[in-house]
Amino acid sequence: MFSKEVYIKRRIKLQSKVESGLILMLGNNDSPMNYADNVYHFRQDSTFLYFFGIDLQNHAGIIDIDNDKEYLFGDDLSVGHIIWMGPQPSMVDKAAKIGVANVKPMADLSKMIADAIKQGRKIHFNPPYRGENIMLLSDMLDIHHNKVKEAASLELTKACINIRSIKEPCEIIELENHMATAYKMHTTAMKMAHGGVTEQEVTGALEGVSMSGGGMVSFPIICSKRGETLHNHDHSNTLQNGDLLLVDAGSESPLHYATDHTRTIPVGGTFSQRQKEIYQIVVDANNISREATKPGMQYKEAHLVAAKVIASGLKDLGLMKGDVDEAVAQGAHAMFFPHGLGHMIGLDVHDMEDYNDTLVGYMDELPRSTQFGLSALRLGRTLEPNWVVTNEPGIYFIPALIDEWKAEGKFTDFINYDKVEGYKDFGGIRLEDDILITEDSCRILGERIPIEVADVEATVKGK
Ligand code: GLY
Ligand code: MN
Repeated sequence: MFSKEVYIKRRIKLQSKVESGLILMLGNNDSPMNYADNVYHFRQDSTFLYFFGIDLQNHAGIIDIDNDKEYLFGDDLSVGHIIWMGPQPSMVDKAAKIGVANVKPMADLSKMIADAIKQGRKIHFNPPYRGENIMLLSDMLDIHHNKVKEAASLELTKACINIRSIKEPCEIIELENHMATAYKMHTTAMKMAHGGVTEQEVTGALEGVSMSGGGMVSFPIICSKRGETLHNHDHSNTLQNGDLLLVDAGSESPLHYATDHTRTIPVGGTFSQRQKEIYQIVVDANNISREATKPGMQYKEAHLVAAKVIASGLKDLGLMKGDVDEAVAQGAHAMFFPHGLGHMIGLDVHDMEDYNDTLVGYMDELPRSTQFGLSALRLGRTLEPNWVVTNEPGIYFIPALIDEWKAEGKFTDFINYDKVEGYKDFGGIRLEDDILITEDSCRILGERIPIEVADVEATVKGK
């Protein structure tokens, strides 16, 4: 964990942004895979981790704003638990490590909440996402479990988003240190990408690199030669030389900060001419949109920069036609680029999306577009120094989407469907980096994973 001053400062900042009442933060508990004692790898709730720092099951925290008091709830382990799970620091020691003065047993949590409700005080909590915590809140607040999410505190959530969006120096160091593991994951995939190897073998190796490098993967690995399916978690194919293998994979640092990168690899080590042409457009979209990215700019603008590079490149190849600006304004390019340029990363790979992705990415600043493609942009609002975001343009040939748009006669002024027909077996390409917004521009975190055609080909070939 970070030093106790980090957690103390964060909670002081939070207190200053919420007017009155009690802030309740529930940690996560173990989640059973198939029976109670056989659990998924434990993952602490990110908000609890951020403000209370304790990476263990069965804890909760309260910040009593009106009385300027903080409480850590949890129980010292019984010998029965210690036999199976090992010793833990005492609750008093844990509280001292995060600068919280008051410790209470878990059984007292409901009573403190009930007393506060009786006094007519507001209980602030963020929208819960795990069934167990929804049920606990339902019991404590005496509201139906279906109504718990809507009882969450917008005031608290906005305050948390404001604070967590700006990464502190210690967080940037943690993230940047972990980029070496991300680099190793993706170069491992490149070195393994040869005919006869299975997607499952590559996926397993990458999970191993992540675990050895500090923590579990930050989201289920996408490793598929059917890269046109944006979140493809099927790994049942065997690679053949000449395929394109899309790998979107990230790792959690020891303190649970996420990396998130995508590379698209020519299996066997040589891009075909057709692959190279599309690949280069995505490289250009990535580089040009990143070069445009700076604080004070809405990320929606960077997204549109990438969209125009894609539409213009596809026009040069005869796949699109007409006026590029108009095509992008109308959303015609989204048949090839149906997702957003990026999202925030931090303790979550899509940082804070448990709160509400539109709130995180747009706040009260601008409405989220309803246009196909642009509506999938998770981060549209104005960038600030020390935000960490992804830059992940892509081009995909999705047969079902092509068929649908063609049948509907959509955007026939901008899409050359006859030419697109010949690309329905192409797959997809996405190229994703993690970038830090600096005082006047931005920079890629960590050593850049090979991305230029020659560098990727050389890495696959082991040069
Ligand atoms: N890396 C997966 C995503 O950003 O959606
Ligand atoms: Mn991403």
